Amino acid sequence: PLPAKIYGKRTNSAGVELGDRKELATLLSGIAKASRTVSAVPLIEGVKASGKAQNVISPVNGTAVGTVVFATADEAAKAVGIAKKSFVSWSRVPVETRAKALEKAGDLLESNRDLLMDLLSREAGKTLDDGIAEIREAVDFCRYYAAEARRQFAADKAMPGPTGEDNKLRHRGRGAFVCISPWNFPLAIFLGQVTAALAAGNTVVAKPAEQTPLIAYEAIRLLHEAGVPKDAVLYVPGDGSVGAALTSHADIAGVAFTGSTDTAWAINRTLAAKKGPIVPLIAETGGLNGMIVDATALSEQVADDVVMSAFRSAGQRCSALRILYLQEDIADNMLEMIEGAARELTLGDPSLASTDIGPIIDQAQRDMLAAHIAAMRKSQKVRYAGAAPDEGLFFAPHIVELNHAEVLEKEVFGPVLHVVRWKAKDLDKVLDQIASTGYGLTFGLHTRIEATVAKVIDRLDVGNVYVNRNTIGAVVGTQPFGGSGLSGTGPKAGGPSYLTRFALEQVVSVNT
Ligand code: NAD
Ligand code: ALA
Repeated sequence: PLPAKIYGKRTNSAGVELGDRKELATLLSGIAKASRTVSAVPLIEGVKASGKAQNVISPVNGTAVGTVVFATADEAAKAVGIAKKSFVSWSRVPVETRAKALEKAGDLLESNRDLLMDLLSREAGKTLDDGIAEIREAVDFCRYYAAEARRQFAADKAMPGPTGEDNKLRHRGRGAFVCISPWNFPLAIFLGQVTAALAAGNTVVAKPAEQTPLIAYEAIRLLHEAGVPKDAVLYVPGDGSVGAALTSHADIAGVAFTGSTDTAWAINRTLAAKKGPIVPLIAETGGLNGMIVDATALSEQVADDVVMSAFRSAGQRCSALRILYLQEDIADNMLEMIEGAARELTLGDPSLASTDIGPIIDQAQRDMLAAHIAAMRKSQKVRYAGAAPDEGLFFAPHIVELNHAEVLEKEVFGPVLHVVRWKAKDLDKVLDQIASTGYGLTFGLHTRIEATVAKVIDRLDVGNVYVNRNTIGAVVGTQPFGGSGLSGTGPKAGGPSYLTRFALEQVVSVNT
């Protein structure tokens, strides 16, 4: 197996060497054996689901992966009530016990890898390497938040004070936390939010994306198996209306949301309109992510990094590259190389090792991409359109040369790379334009000039800056992930500040 990476005192989850024929064969036969039809129902202790089972359709081939019963708004409200009640006991569970349960969950994710790989592929259309990376990230979240809870919350922190006064800072949970996640990381982001909230001592009502409820159901069952009580983490599948029912509930103590900027705004409005306590919203949203390439960059590396950043995972990553800013002098040559590399990509069944790019998640997203390209053809130059299989929800990589960057105002969530040329004297103008979009998630820079690196870091309010590499695949605990402005509130997932936002800080001052 690919060795686990050692990061200081931490070890990230081990991977799979897909290039090794024996390892690949073991993985594929494991997935085939583990594959089964999943029937998901809400996991709300003591409440019997009243909804009807519906098929969960695979974006790969339109077949049913399993069934799900969505929770009703009333059942969602009951789940919040149960989570509020169970908070009294879960918040008093010692940090060490909570941390051990999360570590056990990480182990269970690893031992159930093949089942999870099958669901990632069939339910979410993930390729083998994306599937493996996603499971590793989910495992890393479990272990990292367990370690951070121990480090930050296990003991009260003595604060300085005058003689005769004892001051202590302590952390505890806030109450029933609502976690709402997107379909594009249906395991890692779903579990990242949930495990952070649990580690900080909260109980959790977890609502996965409507497109990917099955893998979330299996993940919650593994958390229960790991020792998290069934009334401390509740699974409430449903669409946005169930999310709205949860976020408008008077008794919630906070919301962790990952998804589009539009939905974050909607949740913000719901929370603002609600009577009762003012609760935190941790929102991680989209990006209009740029990459600047200047004439000093190494062209082969740029081509690889651009193709990886823009097209891997069919561009369905918040971190994906959307606008490439090429210095004019090298633009034609670079574009030829990038197109050449894009032409090598294979689209198709994501469960095959030969596939580089799987499907788009659903028809609505695919239609949105087709409409975007049709609109671009009217006024901009679509200079490359790859080939996609005729059947299924595939959408080929496209490269669109824009007259100017302002043409693109919003994130386009898919494999479409937009390109703008710039003149050497205009770097400041390019940076001003990027800053003016209001987004601030990822940013890439290819240059060998140190002063340019310093200038870009100083000028852009972007959460994750990547220099001379691709812009995707942040590693838990090494590249804490998240942005600012239209891209989210922070704090960064997989970073040292994340858990504190889920916790209540209490100071106790004792006159001795
Ligand atoms: P989305 O906003 O459509 O849905 C996300 C979740 O919100 C789903 O569970 C959905 O059911 C729920 N929801 C919808 N309306 C709601 C409402 N009114 N109240 C409460 N919940 C509601 O996003 P998506 O299409 O699932 O995911 C793609 C988006 O997620 C992209 O914009 C991408 O950039 C973003 N994303 C961001 C990050 C990050 O870390 N910054 C990571 C992954 C994805
Ligand atoms: N954390 C994910 C990435 O970096 C979204 O690609």
